[in-house]
Amino acid sequence: MDRDFIGVMDSGVGGISVLREMTALMPQEDFHYFGDSLHAPYGTRTTEDVRALVFDIVDKFLKDGAKAIAIACNTATSAAVASLRRAYPRLPLVGIEPAIKPASIEHPGENILVMATPMTIREDKFQKLLSKYKDNANIIPLSCPGLMEYVEAGSIDSSDVENFLRNLLEPYTDDRVQAVVLGCTHYPFVLPVIKRVLGEGVSVYDGGAGTARQLRRMLKATGLLRTEADTMGRVTFSNSDPSPERIELCERLFRL
Ligand code: DGL
Repeated sequence: MDRDFIGVMDSGVGGISVLREMTALMPQEDFHYFGDSLHAPYGTRTTEDVRALVFDIVDKFLKDGAKAIAIACNTATSAAVASLRRAYPRLPLVGIEPAIKPASIEHPGENILVMATPMTIREDKFQKLLSKYKDNANIIPLSCPGLMEYVEAGSIDSSDVENFLRNLLEPYTDDRVQAVVLGCTHYPFVLPVIKRVLGEGVSVYDGGAGTARQLRRMLKATGLLRTEADTMGRVTFSNSDPSPERIELCERLFRL
């Protein structure tokens, strides 16, 4: 692997939604994406378990020469980012959190649905975010166990995932929510189905673009941002599930 790459990790293929934002904003950079599909889902594991898995992945990235790391998973961020910052105080490191702030600023007094994993919703980080913005709008956290599995299986526009989402989102249809926050990086891949169920008029918030901008700011501030206008960076993929189908799915989702 090239040295000076940016290591991007997720519990599986979901973080590719964030990687796409990063490569669009910083095409000169080399990115290596690692998905931990073998241990997915993270969202229904214990916090300690996920923290240990994330540390192993970050340690490996650093051993391979990563210059910066992005935790492209809301669940892994809530479980591990504070400990990672303590363990690696000088490492340029970004995480992702549900985009409740912009949603509640742009939809004051309205109903905002926040879709995320059980762990993300349970963790302190989320509860703090919620209490900060709870007076701005009616924020409704919705734990979605079972949803990321459709994306892991590459089933992003099937009648199965549509039935699953119709059941899960039944109480929020018919324009009952004005905004939806995608608080898990797998969910942008099923956004067309979510909109079909909730209504095409629903506003959508996803933290991917903000995380990419944050990474760019951090690289610039530390003098690590590549600026040569004429070189294109490389994007490579690996996964704890090494089957060729898994890597093919990564490439397919990246090119969508
Ligand atoms: N992609 C992960 C997130 O952003 C979660 C999926 C999982 O449960 O592993 O939260």
